[in-house]
Amino acid sequence: MRIHTAVLPVAGLGTRFLPVTKSIPKEMLPVVDRPLIQYVVEEAFSAGIEQVVLVSSTGKAVLEDHFDSSVELEMALEAKGKDELLQLVRDLAPPAGRSISSVRQSAPLGLGHAVLCAWPIVGNKPFAVLLPDDFIWTDDNTPSVLTQMVEQFNKLEASVVAVMDVSPSQTNLYGVIDPYNPKVDDSEDIIRAKGFVEKPSPDVAPSNLAVIGRYILTPEIFPLLANGKKGAGGEIQLTDAISALLGQQSVFGYRFSGTRYDCGDKIGFQMANIALSLQRSEMRSELLPFLREQLARWN
Ligand code: G1P
Repeated sequence: MRIHTAVLPVAGLGTRFLPVTKSIPKEMLPVVDRPLIQYVVEEAFSAGIEQVVLVSSTGKAVLEDHFDSSVELEMALEAKGKDELLQLVRDLAPPAGRSISSVRQSAPLGLGHAVLCAWPIVGNKPFAVLLPDDFIWTDDNTPSVLTQMVEQFNKLEASVVAVMDVSPSQTNLYGVIDPYNPKVDDSEDIIRAKGFVEKPSPDVAPSNLAVIGRYILTPEIFPLLANGKKGAGGEIQLTDAISALLGQQSVFGYRFSGTRYDCGDKIGFQMANIALSLQRSEMRSELLPFLREQLARWN
C-alpha cells in the first residue's frame, strides 16, 4: 500500500535552543547549508510521499517560504549568470505531483495533538510522521529511514515505529517500547510491541529501545488521539495513543540503519554539523587540521 501523506509537526517552541529560536524556528537551523526541515522533506519525497503536511503555529511561515519560489532572488541570480545557485534555489520547490501544505496547531497541547490536527488532510489512510529534530544520516548505499520503514510497513501491514538502543540512563528522554518478547536480541530489527511508555525513568523503563521520530501509522490512531487524554508532561502524547492502538492491532518497532543526531539539542546539533561538514570533500581539507588543532588544545 502506498503511503501518500507525511505529517511533520513543526509547531514546537524550540525552548532547548533559546535564544536563537526566539525568532527563528528550530526547523530552520542549518546542518551545513540546509535547514533541518529540508532534510526531512527530501527524505519524505524520496520515500514516495506525495503530500507533506506541516503542522505549524504562529511565527513559522518562513518554513513554507523556504519551499516557495522567490521571483526576486531567482531573477537576481539569473541576471548574474549564477546558474548553479539558481538551480539550487529552484530545486527547493516540491517536484511535479508533490505538495507541501500546512495546518495550524492552535495551542501547544503535545505531539499527539499536533498529529491529530492533520487528520482532515490525511483522511482514513496510513500515513507517516517525521520529526525534523531527529536528523538521521544514511550513507549513499543505504535507503533513507522513511524508505526503510515503508518497506517494513508493506511487509508487516501494521504500524511501524523507528527505534534505537539508548543508554539505560536516558530512557526518560524518549518514548520507550515494551517489547512483546522481553529478551530482544541485538540482531533483531523488527520488534513486536506489547506497549509503549513515554519518558519512563530508568528504574521503570520496560527496555532501552527508544522511539525515534519516524513513524508509519494506521488511521485508527486518530480516534485514539481525539479522546484527548493527557499523558507525560500534561500533554496529549503520540506514544500513549500508539500504546492504545495495540488493543486493536499489532505495532512493531523497527531498528533502522543510519546515524541519528538529536538536533533539538545543542550538542547533537553540533555533532551533526561536524559529521556532515566532514563528508564534504571541499570542507574536509580545511576542517580536519582545524579539528586536530582544537583536539590538541583540549586534550
Ligand atoms: C518526542 C516523542 C518521544 C520520542 C522523541 C524522539 O519527544 O514524544 O516519544 O522518543 O520525540 O525524538 P520530544 O523529543 O519531542 O520530547
